[in-house]
Amino acid sequence: MGIIEWATSPWGQSVPIHIGWFLIWVAAIVGLSYLIVHAIYVRYFARTKEFAVDASPEFAAGVPERIPRHSLAARLFHWIMAAAMLTLLFTAFLPKIGFQFDWVTYHWIAGIVLTDSIVFHVIHASFWLDFWSIWPDRVDLRDAWRRTLRFIGRPALPPRKFAKYPLDNKLYHLAIVVSGLAVIFTGIFMLFRVRTIFFARDPYLFSDMTWGLMYVLHGLAGVGLIALIIVHAYFAIRPEKLDITKSMVFGSMSREFYLKEHDPERWAVESSTSSSTSKRAKVEG
Ligand code: HEM
Repeated sequence: MGIIEWATSPWGQSVPIHIGWFLIWVAAIVGLSYLIVHAIYVRYFARTKEFAVDASPEFAAGVPERIPRHSLAARLFHWIMAAAMLTLLFTAFLPKIGFQFDWVTYHWIAGIVLTDSIVFHVIHASFWLDFWSIWPDRVDLRDAWRRTLRFIGRPALPPRKFAKYPLDNKLYHLAIVVSGLAVIFTGIFMLFRVRTIFFARDPYLFSDMTWGLMYVLHGLAGVGLIALIIVHAYFAIRPEKLDITKSMVFGSMSREFYLKEHDPERWAVESSTSSSTSKRAKVEG
């Protein structure tokens, strides 16, 4: 039982054919273990979050009751992509764990929906959204270091509140980008192995070795997505994150949540008053 399954090609060469399917269970167990450990940690050990500064009371008073967070286009993208992703996971892995059905057609159609939705997302995020808001910045890294020091009991200033996306969300997005692009790029070539409406089937496009490596990469990124999606769904239903989840349905979040978790200097919203952080100099200094 290896991570990769091998076979002998018609020319006697040993070639990879796909991943060992036991990795499906490994990924599911890793995802579930993470959420159990995290839930126990939050319930019994985590201390109350402390941040460097609060917005000034004058600024807070001027913040609107609802803070727009995701446009309709961004929400539609998210839910279409999620439906495609779940369809891909179920069609790919159910047959491998014993639920046989004719999965390939549903799988490649969902693959095309996922690919199209990601192309849309990249264009939308590059030209209409704040492209850099989802990538870790210097403040995130400095604050992660401060949090680590405080966690192990060493003296450090408290971290600032978050920009639009906390570092955890940014790192999660990065992991999804890597695994998502891996399944998409390999999946597009794998379309040549099956019958689709796009082009004639051509299983001889690559050598057996190249095809094998492609199937292995597709499978590894695919099982990685099992763990990532379990963790994502877990955070989406955690009580303290519900405001964020609801914003992916309704588009906005409450003023209270915004002021509690976010730094108006890092994620600006319209306030009817001016100075947001009159107390910052004292703490940062
Ligand atoms: C969540 C994302 C995805 C997962 C988990 C996933 C998983 C899988 C798995 C496990 C297989 C079986 C491979 C094997 O037998 O070794 C497979 C096959 C395949 N996938 Fe995906 N995949 C995903 C996304 C995509 C995308 C985006 C496309 C197309 C753009 C795609 C197209 C295909 C095709 C054409 C096959 C080949 C079937 C065959 O040769 O019989 N997949 N996928």
